[in-house]
Amino acid sequence: MSNNQLDKSIKAVKMANGLKDPTEPFSSYMNYSKNNLDITMHFKKAPALTSLVKKDIFSLFKDNMMETYKKCPWEWNEKEKRAELFHKDARYILVCNSTNKSLVAFVHFRFDIEDLIEVLYLYEIQLEKKVRGKGLGRYLMSLMENIAFHYNMKRIALTVLKSEINVINFYFSLQYEIESYSPEDAFYYILSKKSKTLELVNN
Ligand SMILES: CC(C)(COP(=O)(O)OP(=O)(O)OC[C@H]1O[C@@H](n2cnc3c(N)ncnc32)[C@H](O)[C@@H]1OP(=O)(O)O)[C@@H](O)C(=O)NCCC(=O)NCCS
Repeated sequence: MSNNQLDKSIKAVKMANGLKDPTEPFSSYMNYSKNNLDITMHFKKAPALTSLVKKDIFSLFKDNMMETYKKCPWEWNEKEKRAELFHKDARYILVCNSTNKSLVAFVHFRFDIEDLIEVLYLYEIQLEKKVRGKGLGRYLMSLMENIAFHYNMKRIALTVLKSEINVINFYFSLQYEIESYSPEDAFYYILSKKSKTLELVNN
Protein backbone atom coordinates (compact mmCIF):
# COMPACT_ATOMS: atom_id res chain seq x y z
CA MET A 1 0.00 0.00 0.00
CA SER A 2 1.31 3.47 -0.86
CA ASN A 3 1.81 6.08 1.85
CA ASN A 4 -0.57 8.25 -0.11
CA GLN A 5 -3.34 5.65 0.19
CA LEU A 6 -2.71 5.20 3.91
CA ASP A 7 -2.79 8.99 4.38
CA LYS A 8 -6.20 9.04 2.68
CA SER A 9 -7.46 6.26 4.97
CA ILE A 10 -6.22 8.07 8.08
CA LYS A 11 -7.90 11.26 6.85
CA ALA A 12 -11.22 9.44 6.31
CA VAL A 13 -11.13 7.99 9.84
CA LYS A 14 -10.21 11.38 11.33
CA MET A 15 -13.08 13.02 9.50
CA ALA A 16 -15.59 10.40 10.69
CA ASN A 17 -14.27 10.55 14.26
CA GLY A 18 -14.58 14.34 14.24
CA LEU A 19 -18.29 14.26 13.45
CA LYS A 20 -20.51 15.50 16.23
CA ASP A 21 -23.19 12.95 15.37
CA PRO A 22 -22.60 10.50 12.49
CA THR A 23 -26.24 9.34 12.72
CA GLU A 24 -27.50 12.79 11.69
CA PRO A 25 -28.25 11.83 8.05
CA PHE A 26 -30.27 8.91 9.43
CA SER A 27 -32.27 10.81 12.05
CA SER A 28 -35.60 9.61 10.63
CA TYR A 29 -34.49 6.00 11.15
CA MET A 30 -33.66 6.26 14.84
CA ASN A 31 -36.73 4.38 15.97
CA TYR A 32 -38.07 0.86 15.63
CA SER A 33 -41.76 0.12 16.11
CA LYS A 34 -42.38 -3.43 15.05
CA ASN A 35 -43.13 -6.87 16.52
CA ASN A 36 -44.43 -5.38 19.79
CA LEU A 37 -41.35 -3.21 20.24
CA ASP A 38 -41.39 0.56 20.51
CA ILE A 39 -37.79 1.64 20.52
CA THR A 40 -35.89 4.94 20.25
CA MET A 41 -32.18 5.22 19.42
CA HIS A 42 -29.66 7.93 20.32
CA PHE A 43 -26.05 8.49 19.39
CA LYS A 44 -23.44 9.24 22.08
CA LYS A 45 -19.66 9.39 22.21
CA ALA A 46 -18.25 7.46 25.18
CA PRO A 47 -16.84 10.56 26.94
CA ALA A 48 -20.37 12.04 26.98
CA LEU A 49 -21.98 9.04 28.69
CA THR A 50 -23.29 9.67 32.21
CA SER A 51 -22.20 7.28 34.95
CA LEU A 52 -25.77 5.98 35.13
CA VAL A 53 -25.80 5.05 31.45
CA LYS A 54 -22.31 3.52 31.76
CA LYS A 55 -23.67 1.39 34.58
CA ASP A 56 -26.60 0.21 32.41
CA ILE A 57 -24.27 -0.55 29.47
CA PHE A 58 -21.91 -2.54 31.64
CA SER A 59 -24.71 -4.42 33.33
CA LEU A 60 -26.28 -5.44 29.99
CA PHE A 61 -22.88 -6.48 28.68
CA LYS A 62 -22.20 -8.53 31.82
CA ASP A 63 -25.62 -10.28 31.71
CA ASN A 64 -25.08 -11.25 28.09
CA MET A 65 -21.38 -12.09 27.95
CA MET A 66 -19.77 -12.89 31.31
CA GLU A 67 -20.34 -16.66 31.14
CA THR A 68 -19.19 -16.79 27.50
CA TYR A 69 -15.99 -14.81 28.27
CA LYS A 70 -15.21 -17.03 31.26
CA LYS A 71 -15.13 -20.03 28.92
CA CYS A 72 -12.75 -18.47 26.37
CA PRO A 73 -9.13 -17.25 26.47
CA TRP A 74 -10.23 -13.62 26.88
CA GLU A 75 -11.50 -14.52 30.37
CA TRP A 76 -13.64 -12.14 32.40
CA ASN A 77 -11.68 -9.00 33.30
CA GLU A 78 -13.98 -6.15 34.34
CA LYS A 79 -11.28 -3.52 34.45
CA GLU A 80 -10.05 -4.26 30.94
CA LYS A 81 -13.58 -4.46 29.56
CA ARG A 82 -14.58 -1.13 31.13
CA ALA A 83 -11.47 0.48 29.61
CA GLU A 84 -12.46 -0.85 26.18
CA LEU A 85 -16.16 0.00 26.46
CA PHE A 86 -15.55 3.55 27.65
CA HIS A 87 -12.45 4.39 25.62
CA LYS A 88 -12.52 7.95 24.26
CA ASP A 89 -12.93 6.69 20.66
CA ALA A 90 -15.94 4.49 21.46
CA ARG A 91 -19.15 5.52 19.75
CA TYR A 92 -22.58 4.33 20.88
CA ILE A 93 -26.06 3.82 19.61
CA LEU A 94 -28.12 3.65 22.79
CA VAL A 95 -31.31 1.71 22.19
CA CYS A 96 -34.11 2.52 24.63
CA ASN A 97 -37.70 1.61 25.35
CA SER A 98 -39.60 4.65 24.04
CA THR A 99 -42.02 4.62 26.97
CA ASN A 100 -39.93 4.15 30.10
CA LYS A 101 -36.58 5.13 28.49
CA SER A 102 -34.77 2.08 29.89
CA LEU A 103 -31.75 0.78 27.95
CA VAL A 104 -32.70 -2.44 26.12
CA ALA A 105 -29.72 -2.70 23.76
CA PHE A 106 -26.61 -0.90 22.57
CA VAL A 107 -24.11 -0.85 19.75
CA HIS A 108 -20.48 0.10 20.42
CA PHE A 109 -18.55 0.98 17.29
CA ARG A 110 -15.47 2.90 16.23
CA PHE A 111 -14.11 4.39 13.03
CA ASP A 112 -10.60 2.97 12.80
CA ILE A 113 -7.74 1.72 10.63
CA GLU A 114 -7.69 -2.08 10.42
CA ASP A 115 -5.23 -3.98 8.24
CA LEU A 116 -4.25 -0.57 6.76
CA ILE A 117 -7.74 0.40 5.61
CA GLU A 118 -10.53 2.55 7.00
CA VAL A 119 -13.31 0.56 8.66
CA LEU A 120 -16.26 0.91 10.91
CA TYR A 121 -15.41 -1.68 13.57
CA LEU A 122 -18.38 -3.06 15.40
CA TYR A 123 -17.12 -3.77 18.93
CA GLU A 124 -20.46 -4.81 20.39
CA ILE A 125 -24.06 -5.33 19.53
CA GLN A 126 -25.89 -6.34 22.69
CA LEU A 127 -29.63 -6.82 23.07
CA GLU A 128 -31.30 -7.85 26.29
CA LYS A 129 -33.14 -11.19 26.02
CA LYS A 130 -36.66 -9.72 25.91
CA VAL A 131 -36.05 -7.80 22.68
CA ARG A 132 -34.22 -10.51 20.71
CA GLY A 133 -35.65 -12.40 17.75
CA LYS A 134 -37.84 -9.45 16.70
CA GLY A 135 -35.74 -8.03 13.90
CA LEU A 136 -34.10 -5.33 16.05
CA GLY A 137 -30.58 -6.79 15.68
CA ARG A 138 -30.95 -6.87 11.91
CA TYR A 139 -32.29 -3.29 11.92
CA LEU A 140 -29.33 -2.05 13.99
CA MET A 141 -26.93 -3.81 11.62
CA SER A 142 -28.57 -2.10 8.64
CA LEU A 143 -28.18 1.24 10.44
CA MET A 144 -24.47 0.53 11.09
CA GLU A 145 -23.93 -0.58 7.51
CA ASN A 146 -25.51 2.60 6.19
CA ILE A 147 -23.40 4.76 8.51
CA ALA A 148 -20.18 2.92 7.55
CA PHE A 149 -20.59 3.34 3.80
CA HIS A 150 -22.08 6.83 4.02
CA TYR A 151 -18.73 7.97 5.51
CA ASN A 152 -16.74 6.02 2.90
CA MET A 153 -15.41 3.31 5.18
CA LYS A 154 -14.09 0.39 3.08
CA ARG A 155 -15.49 -2.27 5.39
CA ILE A 156 -17.71 -2.92 8.32
CA ALA A 157 -15.81 -5.44 10.45
CA LEU A 158 -16.30 -7.30 13.72
CA THR A 159 -14.93 -10.09 15.88
CA VAL A 160 -17.05 -13.08 16.88
CA LEU A 161 -16.17 -16.09 19.01
CA LYS A 162 -16.11 -19.39 17.10
CA SER A 163 -18.08 -20.94 19.98
CA GLU A 164 -21.04 -18.61 19.31
CA ILE A 165 -22.57 -20.55 16.43
CA ASN A 166 -25.94 -18.75 16.68
CA VAL A 167 -24.34 -15.34 16.52
CA ILE A 168 -22.15 -16.40 13.57
CA ASN A 169 -25.30 -17.59 11.79
CA PHE A 170 -26.91 -14.22 12.52
CA TYR A 171 -24.00 -12.45 10.75
CA PHE A 172 -23.92 -14.98 7.90
CA SER A 173 -27.65 -14.34 7.38
CA LEU A 174 -26.69 -10.67 6.89
CA GLN A 175 -24.03 -11.66 4.32
CA TYR A 176 -20.93 -11.14 6.43
CA GLU A 177 -17.90 -13.18 5.37
CA ILE A 178 -14.75 -14.41 7.08
CA GLU A 179 -11.99 -11.84 6.42
CA SER A 180 -8.89 -12.94 4.53
CA TYR A 181 -6.71 -11.94 7.51
CA SER A 182 -8.88 -13.69 10.12
CA PRO A 183 -6.32 -15.99 11.84
CA GLU A 184 -7.15 -19.62 11.06
CA ASP A 185 -6.01 -21.09 14.37
CA ALA A 186 -7.66 -18.49 16.60
CA PHE A 187 -10.74 -18.99 18.82
CA TYR A 188 -12.49 -16.13 17.02
CA TYR A 189 -13.30 -15.00 13.50
CA ILE A 190 -12.97 -11.56 12.02
CA LEU A 191 -16.00 -11.10 9.82
CA SER A 192 -16.61 -8.25 7.43
CA LYS A 193 -18.70 -6.86 4.68
CA LYS A 194 -17.32 -4.75 1.83
CA SER A 195 -20.49 -3.14 0.54
CA LYS A 196 -23.98 -2.20 1.58
CA THR A 197 -26.63 -4.86 1.08
CA LEU A 198 -29.15 -3.98 3.79
CA GLU A 199 -31.61 -1.23 3.01
CA LEU A 200 -32.64 1.00 5.86
CA VAL A 201 -36.41 1.24 5.74
CA ASN A 202 -38.73 3.17 7.99
CA ASN A 203 -40.93 0.94 10.06
C1 LIG B 1 -27.06 -11.65 18.09
C2 LIG B 1 -28.16 -10.60 18.25
C3 LIG B 1 -27.54 -9.21 18.09
C4 LIG B 1 -29.21 -10.83 17.14
O1 LIG B 1 -30.23 -9.83 17.24
P1 LIG B 1 -31.78 -10.24 17.14
O2 LIG B 1 -32.59 -9.01 17.21
O3 LIG B 1 -32.04 -11.30 18.13
O4 LIG B 1 -31.85 -10.88 15.65
P2 LIG B 1 -32.98 -10.57 14.57
O5 LIG B 1 -34.30 -10.89 15.16
O6 LIG B 1 -32.80 -9.22 14.01
O7 LIG B 1 -32.64 -11.64 13.44
C5 LIG B 1 -32.04 -11.24 12.22
C6 LIG B 1 -31.76 -12.44 11.35
O8 LIG B 1 -30.77 -13.28 11.93
C7 LIG B 1 -31.29 -14.58 12.17
N1 LIG B 1 -30.90 -14.96 13.52
C8 LIG B 1 -31.03 -14.25 14.64
N2 LIG B 1 -30.60 -14.93 15.71
C9 LIG B 1 -30.23 -16.11 15.21
C10 LIG B 1 -29.73 -17.29 15.79
N3 LIG B 1 -29.55 -17.37 17.11
N4 LIG B 1 -29.42 -18.32 14.99
C11 LIG B 1 -29.63 -18.27 13.67
N5 LIG B 1 -30.11 -17.18 13.05
C12 LIG B 1 -30.40 -16.13 13.80
C13 LIG B 1 -32.81 -14.43 12.13
O9 LIG B 1 -33.43 -15.61 11.71
C14 LIG B 1 -33.00 -13.29 11.18
O10 LIG B 1 -32.99 -13.75 9.83
P3 LIG B 1 -34.11 -13.18 8.81
O11 LIG B 1 -33.97 -11.68 8.83
O12 LIG B 1 -33.72 -13.80 7.52
O13 LIG B 1 -35.40 -13.64 9.39
C15 LIG B 1 -28.87 -10.69 19.63
O14 LIG B 1 -29.51 -11.94 19.72
C16 LIG B 1 -27.98 -10.48 20.83
O15 LIG B 1 -27.80 -9.35 21.28
N6 LIG B 1 -27.42 -11.56 21.41
C17 LIG B 1 -26.63 -11.50 22.65
C18 LIG B 1 -25.38 -10.69 22.54
C19 LIG B 1 -24.40 -11.17 21.50
O16 LIG B 1 -24.04 -12.33 21.45
N7 LIG B 1 -23.97 -10.22 20.65
C20 LIG B 1 -23.02 -10.47 19.58
C21 LIG B 1 -21.62 -10.32 20.06
S1 LIG B 1 -20.48 -10.53 18.69
